[in-house]
Amino acid sequence: MNARSEAGAGSRTEPVGQDDAAGRRTDAAGRTDAPKRTDAVGGTHAVVGTDAVGPSEEVGWDEDGAWRTAAWRSGSGARAPRRVAVADDRMAADLAYRLVCEGTALLWRGDYHGARQLLAALGRRVDRKPPKQGATPRESFHLYRQARTRRARVLGMLLVPLETAADGSWAVPLRRAPRVGEACVEAYGPPPGPVGALTLVSLRELQGVLGAHEWRRKGVPIEALGGARIHPRHGVFSPVRGEYVDLVARAPLPRAAGARSGPGPGEEAGPVPEAGADGGGAPRGEDPGRLTAFDVGTGTGVLAAVLARRGVGRVTATDVGEQALACARENVARLDVAQAVEVVRADLFPSREAGRADLIVCNPPWLPAKPTSVLEQAVYDPDSRMLRGFLTGLGERLAPAGEGWLILSDLAEHLGLRPREQLLEWISAAGLRVAGRLDARPEHARATDPAAPLHAARAAETTSLWRLRHVEEAVVS
Ligand SMILES: C[S@@+](CC[C@H](N)C(=O)[O-])C[C@H]1O[C@@H](n2cnc3c(N)ncnc32)[C@H](O)[C@@H]1O
Repeated sequence: MNARSEAGAGSRTEPVGQDDAAGRRTDAAGRTDAPKRTDAVGGTHAVVGTDAVGPSEEVGWDEDGAWRTAAWRSGSGARAPRRVAVADDRMAADLAYRLVCEGTALLWRGDYHGARQLLAALGRRVDRKPPKQGATPRESFHLYRQARTRRARVLGMLLVPLETAADGSWAVPLRRAPRVGEACVEAYGPPPGPVGALTLVSLRELQGVLGAHEWRRKGVPIEALGGARIHPRHGVFSPVRGEYVDLVARAPLPRAAGARSGPGPGEEAGPVPEAGADGGGAPRGEDPGRLTAFDVGTGTGVLAAVLARRGVGRVTATDVGEQALACARENVARLDVAQAVEVVRADLFPSREAGRADLIVCNPPWLPAKPTSVLEQAVYDPDSRMLRGFLTGLGERLAPAGEGWLILSDLAEHLGLRPREQLLEWISAAGLRVAGRLDARPEHARATDPAAPLHAARAAETTSLWRLRHVEEAVVS
């Protein structure tokens, strides 16, 4: 990055540590605390599912001697910065880094590409300090997460303006800025307020929104769907790692309700070696069109679509995120399986009216830890809440000879976050038994890169499809 004069944020000269009429405080660097606000909508940071992107907060800053305000947007649920200073291409990266580390967000007014360069320079500075190794995998994981959270916080402090454009869409009022209208409408909905109304977002988030738009446009090819594409949306878990989708494509389907129950070929009361498509469940020739299925936490709808393509007659797919629900509906329509798949909003299982299903699939977030952003909610499941909720409710919603398919990576076990025994205990406490298990090894680059953080655990990771049945099929009516 070119040498820049330390103008911009550092150049302003408000008196140090004084309160102004609006109750703001300024410090030596001219950084201004936003006045205390009463937040209009549901408190300061109400974040619900993947959809908390509404402008519930306002950001204020001093610019050219005037106090300005704008709406704050964060699809990841990040809080609005309390201190904002104006910056442009003249600001040196070292000064910018110092300011953002101290908690001052920088509102970029220079060239858009200059902002991208500054973001890259900030990233290099954060990465100079790699996460420390802990004494145990669990400790290393926590240190790694701390470092990632700090990195996200620091890099999220470089802000760019978005404004309501004359055509009613979003625009970035900076030189050489890309078109962002369509991508921002997809992530945030239509812009608020009259033409020129200002919203601030972090550049890092905007880059994510633009990337998500490209993924949504191009789609992700899914081998298990014969190469057909799933089109993810911003904030919706994307099936880029296809191994778990393949497991759902090849696990033997159970029998439909009313068909003969009891252990099928290849079944045991415990984990069994990987089974082929005929290794258990429905006998050859049984019509899968008689089967009903639930896909709990459907995301893009990929697993529901795979089941429908396998001929399952009726699939009810649930999710709690509005973006996920809309995304799943769009994908099942594109894949021409909408006649077999109904997408409904539900916390875990569909309503009682949907009855029991022959097959209930769930791919919950796989690491028991607290998500630090809305986008992390697909990976981190605090206290294994979704996993336990699925297991606890499964028995009641499964048809007598039905099967629950739990898709779960064992990374948590390798990181010392949740022992295998705990999972087996929850399965048995729910009145379920393991009828079989199919395993897949991840193929993503981090699994094979010895320099990647948490490499040992990642290299040992296996994703499994656990086939769960009632312990006593006969007593379930
Ligand atoms: C790891 S993603 C899996 C998405 C998709 N099934 C797949 O395999 O690609 C977990 C999904 O569960 C959803 N979810 C989280 N909690 C839920 C709940 N209580 N009820 C229904 N869905 C939930 C999330 O919104 C997310 O879409």
